[in-house]
Amino acid sequence: MKIAVIGGTGKEGRGLVLRLAASGEEEVLIGSRQMEKARARAEALNHQLGRAVVVGLENRAAARAADLVILCVPYAAHEETLRAIAPELCGKILVDTTVPLDPQDPLRLRRRSEQSAAEEAQALLGESVKVVAAFQNVSAAALQNLQHAIECDILVCGDDAAAKEIVIALIRRLGLRAWDAGPLQMARAVEELTPLLLSLNGRYGSRSAGIRITGLEDTSPSAPR
Ligand SMILES: NC(=O)c1ccc[n+]([C@@H]2O[C@H](COP(=O)([O-])OP(=O)(O)OC[C@H]3O[C@@H](n4cnc5c(N)ncnc54)[C@H](OP(=O)(O)O)[C@@H]3O)[C@@H](O)[C@H]2O)c1
Repeated sequence: MKIAVIGGTGKEGRGLVLRLAASGEEEVLIGSRQMEKARARAEALNHQLGRAVVVGLENRAAARAADLVILCVPYAAHEETLRAIAPELCGKILVDTTVPLDPQDPLRLRRRSEQSAAEEAQALLGESVKVVAAFQNVSAAALQNLQHAIECDILVCGDDAAAKEIVIALIRRLGLRAWDAGPLQMARAVEELTPLLLSLNGRYGSRSAGIRITGLEDTSPSAPR
């Protein structure tokens, strides 16, 4: 399964690309609005990884070449980026990492609607695309530090059970624990946790506060045995 990270030139995207490469993916695509920027970032990542695994493309070309697309751009660019890549997403899974933080005050959310960013993505893209929300509560700092295992869990929301199971299995291949957190609407609650985690980071001088779910036994097919 070929994966593209749209906005893979940024902080969260870079962390996910590094984790995907470290998990053994043979090729990971990063998308940018600028082809040259994507290529330069891919080259730097390949240098860091010590092998040629990352390929840089313009956003739409990256989405076209991928089977599964991870969206990693700020909320201010969410709608515009989705419109740009929408023609390439038919029949694919879109993993939305977006948290609609208020640019003036990142300890608050500022949404365009009552819905989560992932629900907005689903409404914009229509039923031919399976939108799954994930990664909103894992920091770029934690993802980028390959020397350290990530202790936090990933909550995964979506309305298509099969798409959600594919994303959960992918997250587990990255060495992370993932939980089916219910329908896409639950992404509203997941998004709300991020300002709380950022506030905890500030209070405790950290960059990687996360959440961990306890008291559950995972019986799904891709659960670690
Ligand atoms: N950072 C974190 O710790 C973290 C944690 C959890 C979730 N997230 C979510 O992940 C997403 C990305 O966060 P980030 O911190 O990685 O963001 P970022 O580094 O500021 O931006 C990521 C990429 O988005 C593109 N971009 C930036 N501004 C844009 C604009 N105005 N219009 C179009 N494209 C723009 C840029 O790519 P090009 O210039 O190459 O096109 C940039 O490299 C956000 O939705 C955030 O809520 C982040």
